Amino acid sequence: PAVVVLFGGRSSEHSISSATAGGVLRAIDRDRFRVIPVGITRDGAFVLEADDPDKFALRPEKLPEVVDNGTRVRLPDSVLSREWTVTDAEGERSLGEVDVVLPILHGRFGEDGTVQGLLELLGIPYAGGGVLMSAIGMNKNVTKRVLRSAGVPVVPWVAVTRADLECDRELWERRIRALDLPVFVKPNEAGSSVGVTKVSRWEDLDAALETAFAEDRLALVEQAIVGRELECGVLPGRNGGPVRVSVAGEIVVTGREFYDFEAKYLDAPGVDLVCPADLREGELSEMQRIAAHAFEALGGEGLARVDFFYTGTEFYVNEVNTMPGFTPISMFPTCWIASGLSYPELISDLLDAALD
Ligand code: DAL
Ligand code: MG
Repeated sequence: PAVVVLFGGRSSEHSISSATAGGVLRAIDRDRFRVIPVGITRDGAFVLEADDPDKFALRPEKLPEVVDNGTRVRLPDSVLSREWTVTDAEGERSLGEVDVVLPILHGRFGEDGTVQGLLELLGIPYAGGGVLMSAIGMNKNVTKRVLRSAGVPVVPWVAVTRADLECDRELWERRIRALDLPVFVKPNEAGSSVGVTKVSRWEDLDAALETAFAEDRLALVEQAIVGRELECGVLPGRNGGPVRVSVAGEIVVTGREFYDFEAKYLDAPGVDLVCPADLREGELSEMQRIAAHAFEALGGEGLARVDFFYTGTEFYVNEVNTMPGFTPISMFPTCWIASGLSYPELISDLLDAALD
């Protein structure tokens, strides 16, 4: 089958998506799939990219980027066609018929249901969650509401806009200060810890909110949980079987405030990823049960990494990522490799589910 690997995009996680593409281009089973790499620039142009994993490798000194090379990739103009084309200096030519799209986009305009909607409209099969699941997963506030109503434990939070604060500052401050310090302040729709601040003194709240508002009109103030940070990967069942959940990975933060962007991608010291995490059997099975339940509550499609805080007695779901970081060093593939699914098999698994 012909696969469009779609990456980059307009969100603040553009480079992370590009790094994920590097990993996927390197690992995808070339005997089975004809690969067409399509990058989306930060400005939103669809360009034909080099089929070159090295170009998009994750290097802390310079994160990878889709730059406008002047080409323009066009999707089919209706559900009646499967043919993609590209225009370059020589004119327009066909890229052939495309069977499936692998949208490895993080953040807004990609992980949030928008690209999924475009592909649905054109009748193009795609890997990952559908419109609704993606839209919910991108929205931390809605995710928490959905999970809470499904009985999944979530961390207490307050969602607030600048307009709320301007309208009745006293009320909103009272609500926020009902949480215990420290708190995390986050943009509602962002990822990779962009715009996230850990606040340990209420004097620092306003600055943290401004940082979050730079990314999104809605900010979340969340109670920080004292405990361990654990994650696991989830995939739908094969042939109607039960949801599959990987072993757990742990983020061990030692010399740092939290698992921020620098620690995630720029190799900053103070954070170690440990997989499999040291958990007793009963702990792991409880975490896996909650992860499967959270995944199904959001729609149960595609893939997800479910992130937890664990107090030693209680698991809280922090968030559900419907297109988790997928670079070869990322937690999602690492957890699956530790569970017996190799990185190339994982990619084939996602594509096969979409082609089914
Ligand atoms: N948002 C990043 C890519 C993640 O969840 O891994
Ligand atoms: Mg995230």
